[in-house]
Amino acid sequence: MPKKIALGVLVSGSGSNLQSIIDHIESGRLDAEIKLVVSNNPDAFALQRCAKHRLPTALIDHREFPTREDFDRCVIARLRAADVELVVMAGFMRILSPEFFRAFPRRILNIHPALLPSFPGTNVQKKAVEYGVKFSGCTVHFADEGVDTGPIIIQAVVPVYENDTADTLAARILVEEHKIYPQAIQYYAEGRIEIEGRTVLIRNGGPFTEKVLHNPPLTRF
Ligand code: GRF
Repeated sequence: MPKKIALGVLVSGSGSNLQSIIDHIESGRLDAEIKLVVSNNPDAFALQRCAKHRLPTALIDHREFPTREDFDRCVIARLRAADVELVVMAGFMRILSPEFFRAFPRRILNIHPALLPSFPGTNVQKKAVEYGVKFSGCTVHFADEGVDTGPIIIQAVVPVYENDTADTLAARILVEEHKIYPQAIQYYAEGRIEIEGRTVLIRNGGPFTEKVLHNPPLTRF
């Protein structure tokens, strides 16, 4: 039986990605244990999910700290006290300070609801619809000191339709987020991730997809 990786999950909102991680662990598809869930938001629905699954939580309200660094130091201390190996940002709406990356070097993952490096930042489903891209998707990547810039582990692609709104696109993307985040964490747990430059290699990772997508589909070619 592979060793379980000790996770610390950072949340701010609904926590549907947290739920997917919980479900994958409970069904034996993810060799991980959630040691602590940290929320910076007292009203995060994610906290109710934790109560239901009896997960340890820390509510650390950033508004109670004079600076970002003070808040981060408190979160780091709680994660360390819980023996967290891998930090998983799951809808955590705070930028981490450099100290955080020094505390957990190459041990922080993030999920972003767009195909990076397109559309970093916030409200990206709306931006993708407004831009008129024909595909969008989601990205699991190592977090680094930039905004949504770290090495990419997995991406999933979804089509964007002419009648999409930010909400319909977000829902389509979220379905895929819930698959690729547990998968990326499992790769990490299995020790299969290598980073070369900014490219992530998954050891024994193939076969890779040969699928080419067209949207709208080609009719004559
Ligand atoms: C997801 O779309 C995630 O990619 C983004 O924020 C959203 C969080 O959703 N960073 P949830 O809290 O996991 O439901």
